[in-house]
Amino acid sequence: MKIHTQAVHAGDRKKAAAHVPVTTPIHTAASYFYESMAQLDRIFGQEEEGYCYSRYDNPSAAALEELMCVLEGGHGALACASGMAAVQMAVTTAMADRPRSVVAANVLYGATVGLLMNVLEPAGVSVRFVDVTDLPALEAAVAEARPGCVLIETISNPLLRVGQIDRIAQIARQAGAALVVDNTFATPLIARPLDLGAHFTVHSVTKYLAGHGDVLGGVVIADQDHYAALRNRSRILGPVLGPFECYLTMRGIKTFPLRMERQCANACRVAGWLASHPRVERAYFTGDPAHPDAATIRRVFPANLYGAIVSFEIRDAGKEEIFAFMDRLKIVVRATSLGDVHTMMLYPTMSSHREISPKHRERMGIRDNLVRLSLGIEAADDIIADLAQALG
Ligand SMILES: Cc1ncc(COP(=O)(O)O)c(C=O)c1O
Repeated sequence: MKIHTQAVHAGDRKKAAAHVPVTTPIHTAASYFYESMAQLDRIFGQEEEGYCYSRYDNPSAAALEELMCVLEGGHGALACASGMAAVQMAVTTAMADRPRSVVAANVLYGATVGLLMNVLEPAGVSVRFVDVTDLPALEAAVAEARPGCVLIETISNPLLRVGQIDRIAQIARQAGAALVVDNTFATPLIARPLDLGAHFTVHSVTKYLAGHGDVLGGVVIADQDHYAALRNRSRILGPVLGPFECYLTMRGIKTFPLRMERQCANACRVAGWLASHPRVERAYFTGDPAHPDAATIRRVFPANLYGAIVSFEIRDAGKEEIFAFMDRLKIVVRATSLGDVHTMMLYPTMSSHREISPKHRERMGIRDNLVRLSLGIEAADDIIADLAQALG
């Protein structure tokens, strides 16, 4: 063989033999090599297990998907290129053979509202928002709308309301609808929606699961009745997560329960401190005994794990005062996201809920003096000292 041929083929396509690496390798290959056409035919036809093309499946993605399936108690999972890709895949698969109608929680992540109002509604899907913590209101909305899909967040973004997933699942199931739960804020350490009757759980793994602010990704975990449809749609639509991001996410997940426990403990400390600060008009925290959903939280969440987000309103502050306050922060990072090892603060009006009209934001209860704090793993005293100096 000439050097041009050697350069392309030598050393490649070697079997790993008996070596089993202790962590999953990053499988970058887009396609796979087989001993014979007959074997490739069987794998393409899904008669034999194996990989043929990375839009369909990939060993790095399969490892992450198995991990998420175990953590969430699902039948199968799909790793997606972002949390929004995961939300979109779950909602559209839920409606694949059901009415094209969604009943959604009235407080959701901004882009999820955008998906419903700017993408699905113009495409002919009917969308209705309802307070899912008000079960009679949800029942009435479901009876009227006859939805194919009910969409909620375990802990809503950014006002931290908590619905009764088991009862919501009953209402959805009785009406023949599939329940999709965005479990990003809670994580499987705090809630496992599939155990409570949901059909799909979704995550932005960008947040707590990967946890280090260096990967964008999502995952859908489906029950037995919906996994095949999810996977088949994905083979066509191709929303999949790349192998390097799968590796980073799996690496992050190994320490996620330890990080999350610490982050939850930090949130308890900081929420208590904020609640008594004279400049804080109102603090929102799921561990607050006066939280409007405290009874649900006590019933559904494990003891002392309430999530690691604290939202708060600063007294008499408008956009200018909020900007000045956030500019004074020295340890807390001003950034759009949550769930990282570092504590970060976001201004929903300007970022996560920017695309929503001011009127709709007001209806959601998101005021212009509200900020959202995502607790990291630092020492709580240092976070409190930073907030104290920035509040002045
Ligand atoms: C609750 C929730 N769901 C979904 C998403 C979307 O995730 P991603 O940014 O990975 O697309 C976010 C992002 O902030 C979120 O907070």
